[in-house]
Amino acid sequence: QDPRISKISSAIRVIPNFPKPGIMFQDITTLLLDTKAFRDTIDLFVERYRGKDISVVAGIEARGFIFGPPIALAIGAKFVPMRKPNKLPGEVISEEYSLEYGTDKMEMHVGAVQAGERALIIDDLIATGGTLCAAIRLLERVGVQVVECACVIELPELKGRERLGDKPLFVLVSSD
Ligand code: PRP
Ligand code: MG
Repeated sequence: QDPRISKISSAIRVIPNFPKPGIMFQDITTLLLDTKAFRDTIDLFVERYRGKDISVVAGIEARGFIFGPPIALAIGAKFVPMRKPNKLPGEVISEEYSLEYGTDKMEMHVGAVQAGERALIIDDLIATGGTLCAAIRLLERVGVQVVECACVIELPELKGRERLGDKPLFVLVSSD
């Protein structure tokens, strides 16, 4: 394993019982305070995706907006925000997905991506995988090829990786 990973892992703060009892919250704001670990996080993704002919980095609101843009700039791709509903001003396409209670929606601007483009999807964390699946569906509906999904943290107990099926998932830290 890359020697940078253990420092990244220890820079992520785990807060028990947030936002509700029984949840161990993976807080990446402490990773952002550690300039070396934050830079290493971005570098590890850039090293993996540079030269892979990716033209789109799609970042998922909110925490995918932190990691996506520096990766996009470094690999020479555009950044496309995948937003919560009713935030984007232009024409959107949207995709519903299920949460623990009820459903939510994810939206993307029409015209932000073109059929045939190659995309990387970025988020901070995969839990059940529902969020990433919605992002994959949105991009594939408009003919974009999703090359891979990448997250800083995976919660393997929640089996999100299985939900992604044969879509490749790359994570830096696995938290069990
Ligand atoms: C968290 C996390 C991922 C998502 C993962 O975001 O940042 O985006 O949950 O969950 P899943 O794999 O079970 O779908 P959240 O919806 O809490 O919103 P935020 O990023 O805007 O804080
Ligand atoms: Mg999120």
